[in-house]
Order: sequence, then C-alpha cells, then structure tokens
Amino acid sequence: MSKIIAPSLLAADFKNLELEIKRVSKAGAKWLHLDVMDGHFVPNISFGPVVLTSIAKVSNLFLDVHLMIAQPDKYADEFIKAGAQLITFHIEALKAPQVLKLIKHIKSSKVKVGIALKPKTDVSIILPYLKLIDLVLVMSVEPGFGGQKFMPLAVEKIKTIKNYIKKNKLKTLIEVDGGINLDTAKLCAQAGVDVLVAGSYLFGAKDLSAKIKALGRI
Ligand code: DX5
Ligand code: ZN
Repeated sequence: MSKIIAPSLLAADFKNLELEIKRVSKAGAKWLHLDVMDGHFVPNISFGPVVLTSIAKVSNLFLDVHLMIAQPDKYADEFIKAGAQLITFHIEALKAPQVLKLIKHIKSSKVKVGIALKPKTDVSIILPYLKLIDLVLVMSVEPGFGGQKFMPLAVEKIKTIKNYIKKNKLKTLIEVDGGINLDTAKLCAQAGVDVLVAGSYLFGAKDLSAKIKALGRI
C-alpha cells in the first residue's frame, strides 16, 4: 500500500512560505507537517497559531500539527481555531488524566487527534490509547531540530504498535518523524508505517515531486 507523505515545513524557506506550500502541493503531497516548538518542551522555538492561521489560508493540504510544547492542553484550542486538521501532542507533556481529557476535547472539536512519543519513551505506554486516537507519531530523532540522524529503535516501536493495531483491529495510523530518507523510509515501511514525515530530505531536493513519488511508492 502506498504511504502518505507529510513534508515538514520546518525545512522550507521561511521567507517564502506561500511559495513553498504551493511547491509541496504541486509536487503531489497531500499532507503538510507543522512542527510547533516552545523552547521549553524542546530546546528550540519555531512558530505558533498566528503563523498557522496564515498557512491555512494559502494551503489545500491536510494540516498535520505536531505540538512539541509543554502545555498542549492549554494551547490546543488556539491551534484548532487556526485551522489544524490533526493535532498531535506528546505523551510526555501530560499526566494520564490530562491525556484522556485532551483526546476527548480535540475529538469533540472535529479535529483528528494523535499522540507522539519521544525516542526514549517506552512504547508500552502508548498502547492503551491507540483505540482512542487517529494517529500515533513515533519520533525517530530527539524532537527539536530537523536534519538529524534516524534512530533505528523507532523501527521496533513501529512493529510493536502495528502488531497491537492488527490484533485489536484498529484503524489508527502510524506516523514516523525524523531522519527520513529513502533508506530509512524503507525500514519503517517494512515495519508497518502509514505516514512518513520528511523535512530536509525533501526540501533540499530540486525535484521535490520525484522524491515525494519515490517515498510514496516504498
Ligand atoms: C523534529 C521535527 C521533525 C523535523 C524532521 O523535531 O518533529 O518534523 O522537521 O526533519 P528531518 O526530516 O530533516 O529529520
Ligand atoms: Zn514533527
């Protein structure tokens, strides 16, 4: 089955976001991955709901928002209002009751919901939530920066999650994020991934369309 490709805007040319978004769309991608960082949950700051609002105005892509922030429950509404179509927050940022509350809240706003886990977070923690969410995001680098090297431990996590999804007949999508190129994408695809996030690999390319097609066909 072909994979969904979610180009990560973090690697785009920020002085020309509208053009970059159009380039992604013309190249055949259907999703756009948006990395929100607060300088607290991760040691980097990117952009917030104001920029997302403008992006939403010029984009026809599915807006996949990855919140790398310390208080996703406090800010989720702003991203919903700004036009997010999927909001993925980190399991490490909240305690269990807050996680459940935020899942319910995002769903009730008719926005899809995902949970992300950092490379060092044990995969077993996510399994009980899978039946409640639309997507699980497996980080294959420490969140915070684009252009890092893929951590192979993500492959085992994807396998574990895929088995659980199959066994329980769930529809939850598995997304992988960090260090994705043709080789690492293959490993993830074999393990059962559905959505491939790629930043530097795609935006560094002259022929974006060929790279998106190649990744999608994996
Ligand atoms: C990292 C971000 C990623 C990043 C991926 O914290 O979540 O989405 O942009 O970039 P590459 O594909 O360059 O590793
Ligand atoms: Zn991301």
